[in-house]
Parts: sequence; structure tokens; C-alpha cells
Amino acid sequence: MLDKIANLKAEIEALAASTPQEVEALRIKYLSKKGEVSALMADFRNVAADRKKEVGMAINALKMLATDKINSLKAATEQADTLDDTLDLSRSASPVALGTRHPLSLVRDEIVNIFSRLGFTVAEGPEIEDDWHVFSSLNFAEDHPARDMQDTFFIGRNPDVLLRTHTSSVQSRVMEHTQPPIRIVCPGRVYRNEAISARAHCFFHQVEALYVDKNVSFADLKQTLLYFAREMFGPDTAIRLRPSYFPFTEPSAEMDISCNLCGGKGCGFCKHTGWVEILGCGMVDPNVLDACGIDSKVYSGFALGMGIERIANLKYRVNDLRLFSENDVRFLKEFTHAH
Ligand code: DAH
Repeated sequence: MLDKIANLKAEIEALAASTPQEVEALRIKYLSKKGEVSALMADFRNVAADRKKEVGMAINALKMLATDKINSLKAATEQADTLDDTLDLSRSASPVALGTRHPLSLVRDEIVNIFSRLGFTVAEGPEIEDDWHVFSSLNFAEDHPARDMQDTFFIGRNPDVLLRTHTSSVQSRVMEHTQPPIRIVCPGRVYRNEAISARAHCFFHQVEALYVDKNVSFADLKQTLLYFAREMFGPDTAIRLRPSYFPFTEPSAEMDISCNLCGGKGCGFCKHTGWVEILGCGMVDPNVLDACGIDSKVYSGFALGMGIERIANLKYRVNDLRLFSENDVRFLKEFTHAH
């Protein structure tokens, strides 16, 4: 009888089933009233009295083994049964669609990189500003038209809380707490109250650069501009400076580069002049240095500012500004291989 129990034990340990129905059939075979274990119980009557203890224990152990085995098979097959059989577990994971870097980020980083090769470091300031940093410290007269409601977004009723209209505000913030030498580039978003069209937007991006030290001259500015233009647009690029006016620089200039579409011959893009304007610049007005706590008798400096969208338009021939903020993936994908 013990041999029979041992055989059953081996048989039960090896049981396998893949559906709950198969498990039920096994339960009937081993544990039902007419099953193998019950049959052993019936035979138990015939076991000699002195062996009853040993055989009884073996039968009980077998019954427990069968119960445990069948319960665990039941749990396993029921769990498998709840898995959606339309699920193909052998399929590879769906590919993650990778994004691309935004063209404005690419151009911003390129501008910043060029200036960092000249020793400029990045400085940033808040987009929500006050009148002092955006206008007053930069020598804007009380009645300067740039302060007009038509250009500047004010926040609430307080005329001293506004969205910066240019990144020149970062100049005054840095000069207020740093003594020269100062060499900074300030990339960031700016806001102006303009109707949105292909050529204007109510927000856009600028990079400002500022260099203040002893004996900084216009020649330093010009060489920096030439270096920048050639790094950005290629070694054949020519620059020209036209006199201009900004409250915070004196003298002031606007810089044109030779049109990189027609190579300077004249085309629709450069309005047949061979030149396109890309930035404003000048020597920092001594009033600005003094307003920010830098002694204008000891130090001088130059500053320049440019629109990132404008540079991106020139580099990538984007002719509608709105594309930069619509996040149409078809547009963004065109820059997958830029850089
Ligand atoms: N802040 C000017 C603007 O928004 C750009 C600019 C012009 C910045 C001349 C400068 C500068 O630093 O010297 O149009």
C-alpha cells in the first residue's frame, strides 16, 4: 500500500494543466468521493493494526499534497484565463516617437555658443518686469513711445508691473549687482502688444549681449559683430553698420549682413539691396552705466540685441513667424537633421 501511495505522490507532483476545466478533471480524478484518495481511504480498513499509524499518516500527507497542487493549478489557470487573448505578448513594444529640437532653441544655442567662444557667459532675467529695468534705467525718456500702452503689456492696473519688451532689461539687472569686467549673453522671450501676422507676433525671442570693461571701444564692437556674422552665416558674410538711435546706446547702429539668399546681388528677400538687417547695437550710454552703479568715467561698454526669429528666418528661410509657435509637427520635423 505504501508503494501505491508513493506512486500517486510522484504522479500528483508532476500534474500540469492549462485550463480551469483540466484542473477540475484532475480534482475529480484524485479528490472526489470516487477519486484515488478516497479509494485509499477505503482500502485503509484492510491495513494491519500495527501499520495503521504509518499508512494513515502517508494517506493524509498525500491528500494535503493533492489539495495544494490542485489549488495552485486552479489559481494559475484562472489567472491566465483573465488575460485578454487578443493581447499578443510576444509583440515588440510600440516605438516611441522622438521629438525634435525646436528651431528657435537650435538658433539660440548657436548664438550663445558663438558668444561663449569669446568669453561671454549666459545671464537670464525675469519676463515679468518693472519699469525701471525695462525702461528707466536704460535711459528711456518719460514720454518715450516704447512705453506706450500700444507696445507694452501691463499686468493689472499697476503701471510698474509689465512684460519685458526686450532682453535689454537683463543688462541693467546684471550691472546693478556686478562690477566690470562684464561679458554676458542674455537669451529670452519678450512680449509686445502687436497684432499677430506672418511678420509680427505678440511674443518673440531675443539675445542681448553686453560687454563692459575699461577701454572698450567701438572697434571692439565691430570686430565682435564681424566674428558673430561669419560664424553664424558663413565666412564670406560681409557686414555693414548704419547709424541708428536707441536710448541706451550712444552712438547706436544697426547691422546688416550681405544677403545670404542672393549673395549680395539683390533679390526679393533683401528688397534688391543686397543687405538684410539683423541687429541693433551701440556703445552703452554713460547714463545707463551710472544708473546701474557703474562709474562711466572709468568704464565703457558695448551692447547689442537681436531677434532669434529673424536669425532663424535667415538661416532656415521660414517666412511665416506663426510657424514657430504653432507646434505643427510637420514643421518641427523639418529640423530633425539641423545640427
Ligand atoms: N533692445 C532693442 C530692441 O528690442 C535691441 C537692441 C538694440 C539691444 C541696440 C541693444 C542695443 O543692446 O545696443 O529692439
